Amino acid sequence: MAGLATAAPAAPARGENPAPRALVLPAVRPLSAMARLGRSLFFDPRLSGSGRLSCATCHSPAHAYGPPDAAPVAHGGSDMRRSGLRAVPSLRYLYRQPPFSIGPDSPGDNDRRASLLQQARRAADTGHAPKTADQPQAAAANLVPQGGLFWDGRVDTLEQQADGPLFNPDEMAAGTPAQVLARIAAGPYAPDFERLFGARIFDDPRQALAEALFAISRFEIEDPSFHPFTSKFDAWLAGRARLSAAEWRGYLAFNDPKKGNCAACHLDRPSRDGLPPLFTDHQYEALGVPRNPAIPANRDPAFFDLGLCGPLRHDLGAQTRYCGMFPTPSLRNVATRRVYFHNGVFHSLREVLDWYAGRDLQPQRFYPRGADGRVVAYDDLPPQDRANVDHSDAPFDRRRGDAPALDEADIDDLIAFLGTLTDATAGPRGRADQRTSR
Ligand code: HEC
Ligand code: HEC
Repeated sequence: MAGLATAAPAAPARGENPAPRALVLPAVRPLSAMARLGRSLFFDPRLSGSGRLSCATCHSPAHAYGPPDAAPVAHGGSDMRRSGLRAVPSLRYLYRQPPFSIGPDSPGDNDRRASLLQQARRAADTGHAPKTADQPQAAAANLVPQGGLFWDGRVDTLEQQADGPLFNPDEMAAGTPAQVLARIAAGPYAPDFERLFGARIFDDPRQALAEALFAISRFEIEDPSFHPFTSKFDAWLAGRARLSAAEWRGYLAFNDPKKGNCAACHLDRPSRDGLPPLFTDHQYEALGVPRNPAIPANRDPAFFDLGLCGPLRHDLGAQTRYCGMFPTPSLRNVATRRVYFHNGVFHSLREVLDWYAGRDLQPQRFYPRGADGRVVAYDDLPPQDRANVDHSDAPFDRRRGDAPALDEADIDDLIAFLGTLTDATAGPRGRADQRTSR
């Protein structure tokens, strides 16, 4: 398959896309009544125990539905002083999120737990194809964990959030379903509930709450602000924008298997049928990012967030080769974030890319020293799980003494390229007629 990078190795004179594509974008339709109710709920702080947190507090529409600030993990709880373990992900571009599975075949939903463990057993006997940016599809058949929501895939679909943020004592701490419902019943959209779900809806708090969460998921699925595709890169893919010289060089480094190799995991090409790229292959990897001392739970040196192996996910703990694995996030709107990686350890793209380039060449720049004075690489994993860290996929295939895969100029260019992934439009109040491509 001839990719764009190989088709046009020389910079096109004016930064245009040498092979523009018509992209298949989600249809823009007026929101259903259900989604409009979901929008009200999404922005309503009365759902939370403190009365001060709505979904939008942490998933800020002005920040691509990601965190509004640089706090590594969000503050919540009934007193707003508890904090969670993980950085707030963007809620954009989840509309094509596959369910969690190990290997490309997703299990049927009967006896899901047993089938996941069967998949894990099958996967244990097979090798792992290295991922390269010029043949990202070669790794697609890998029997590796993929898909699902949250930083450990513990939830499959947007509809399945019942035990999610709303009742998490570190997040919205909403109390019991009956308490949430009492607050909704007293709110301005109680009549919408009765109109959509029947006059007796408030008699059954669990059912009513399930409907409320379903309504929120409809908002996330239907509202174009969750999948706007209004970035400069989208316009460039369609032949309507030009990349600057630095952005073009960054694009090449992103796709070059000997430089960033980023596109091996953060897929950047339209699918054969024209679906725009989401900058993730939805697969899990253990990259071994440094421990973040700013997370309160990390004050306990025996505490580790192992992603697929727990503590928030409970079914795969025995599959020790998955310990430390986290999903590859989309890089769309990544330049709008001020916290990076699952534990929010870095605060700028430059820090992220310095680490990608230098993780194994100059580990002393990123990891602390132990009592014996030696650098403890991958210090956010317990020693027995450090062997899970990815050393096969570039740029992680370099050893001490090798030249770095990325030099300073490459990093500048990659940052310029990542900036083209920022959507031109913000939250749901930006109307469709204001959507423009730069
Ligand atoms: C206190 C901050 C906070 C609030 C409030 C909050 N969330 Fe989140 N949300 C998070 C964090 C942190 C995660 C990641 C948690 C994890 O991976 O374990 C997350 C993850 C998610 C995900 C998974 C996204 C992905 O890419 O996998 C969805 C969907 C989501 N939240 C929706 C909501 C909805 C809907 C609400 C309101 C009912 C809400 N959140 C309220 C902090 C918050
Ligand atoms: C082997 C697969 C792989 C390759 C290659 C790769 N990444 Fe990643 N990337 C990941 C995974 C997995 C994470 C999340 C890791 C975590 O949080 O523990 C991630 C996270 C990130 C983040 C943080 C995003 C966020 O929302 O927190 C950025 C930025 C990023 N990658 C950029 C790049 C760039 C640029 C390159 C090329 C230099 C690259 N990645 C190469 C798998 C990969």
